[in-house]
Amino acid sequence: MNNNTAQEDILSKVVSLCKRRGFVYQGSEIYGGLAGMWDYGPYGVTLKNNIKSTWWKMFVDNRDDMFGVDAAILMSSKAWEASGHVAGFSDPLAECMKCKKRFRADHLKEDKCPECGGALGASRQFNMMFKTHVGAVEDSAAVVYLRPETAQGIFVNFKNVIDSLHPRLPFGIAQVGKAFRNEITPRDFIFRVRELEQMEIEYFIKESEWEKHFEYWRERMWQWIEAIGLEKEHVHELEVPDDERAHYSKRTIDFEYDFPFGRKELYGLAYRGDFDLKSHKEHSKVDLQYFDDATGEKFIPHVIEPSLGVERTMLALLLDAYTEDEMGGEKRVFLKLKPSIAPVKAMVSPLLKNKPELVGKAREVYMALKKEISQVAWDDNGNIGKRYRRQDEIGTPFCITIDFDTLENDTVTVRDRDTGTQERIPVSELTDRIKRSII
Ligand code: GAP
Repeated sequence: MNNNTAQEDILSKVVSLCKRRGFVYQGSEIYGGLAGMWDYGPYGVTLKNNIKSTWWKMFVDNRDDMFGVDAAILMSSKAWEASGHVAGFSDPLAECMKCKKRFRADHLKEDKCPECGGALGASRQFNMMFKTHVGAVEDSAAVVYLRPETAQGIFVNFKNVIDSLHPRLPFGIAQVGKAFRNEITPRDFIFRVRELEQMEIEYFIKESEWEKHFEYWRERMWQWIEAIGLEKEHVHELEVPDDERAHYSKRTIDFEYDFPFGRKELYGLAYRGDFDLKSHKEHSKVDLQYFDDATGEKFIPHVIEPSLGVERTMLALLLDAYTEDEMGGEKRVFLKLKPSIAPVKAMVSPLLKNKPELVGKAREVYMALKKEISQVAWDDNGNIGKRYRRQDEIGTPFCITIDFDTLENDTVTVRDRDTGTQERIPVSELTDRIKRSII
């Protein structure tokens, strides 16, 4: 975050930029919006895809001990009974007796309604899972839940993965996908939403080695934070105390980020023991033990779980990247996103829109670049200064301009987002140059 920008303003500035420039829109906006739901526009979806593909590449494709799955969002209610979510996935809810508004009881600072000052009723536990029915009959047998975490889609496929790929411990199963939580008070833009995406790993290990693997994944979390370009000094580890951890977890570290509305959880790293597999084994009556062919032992592996939210990653990245400065005597806003994460890598444009020879050459350069790098944009609207500002605002690291010199000597100017400096380079070197800069 730029120090010149007041903390309290920065969230509203980022929210407004996201809407104006096509990153994030309110869900069902033309019908007045639906609380806790957000839609992602053209740049938002690309930014999210870049986050998810960086994660998948780093933790699945680049490793030989990780297996990906994509499980169904709707899962049998029996799975959620086994995981403990039916009984315990709840937050305390307090309702105002006067205005009937509902609040997270543990978020309230006083015992009066923060909206109207009315008296609050006794708090009760509110289960956050979204429930629906499969099939034509709406009876209790047809009840299914939209998963509130992707993790259980991994545990229920543990045996399938073992049977089809025969991995040896330690190994992980990874999944990226939607999860749904009927949060009592969704808030702070995309920080607390009701429809979210998670990137989760269940890393299966021998119990005796849990501390070693926990440390290993703790380091990987920091490598990830660096890989996407988050400022390390804005992220802090919080050792979750005994009485606040899930009952099955022997150790949890929250990775917290300095959001403008306070230091809050960005990611979680938990040692879940053998709780989930053991419970699914008991409830499903299916043997979920691992057979160690070296020792002849059969046992339920323990698990380390790094759990990351896509929306919180995106919000932290946007907040870190949002910068205001002055260039050429004018104020400007730019997103200092890491080139590999930025939704547009390069913009190509002809200096003048009404010169067919410039436009023709620029289209040629644009098409050649787009063939090699998919996230390349074309812009010929307004003057060149305006085009640069528009690209700065969405975080495009490079702007390439085709001018009259290009027609003479086949060189183009490449403008750098952060410094505004321009360099002339031969068209023949352009693709390689941009490719190297966006890794
Ligand atoms: N499987 C473990 C699990 O789901 P969690 O701490 O409840 O643990 C993991 O969630 C991560 O998912 C969080 O650290 C956060 O990044 C993201 N997350 C959870 N609830 C969220 C919500 N309502 N809105 C946005 N992200 C959320």
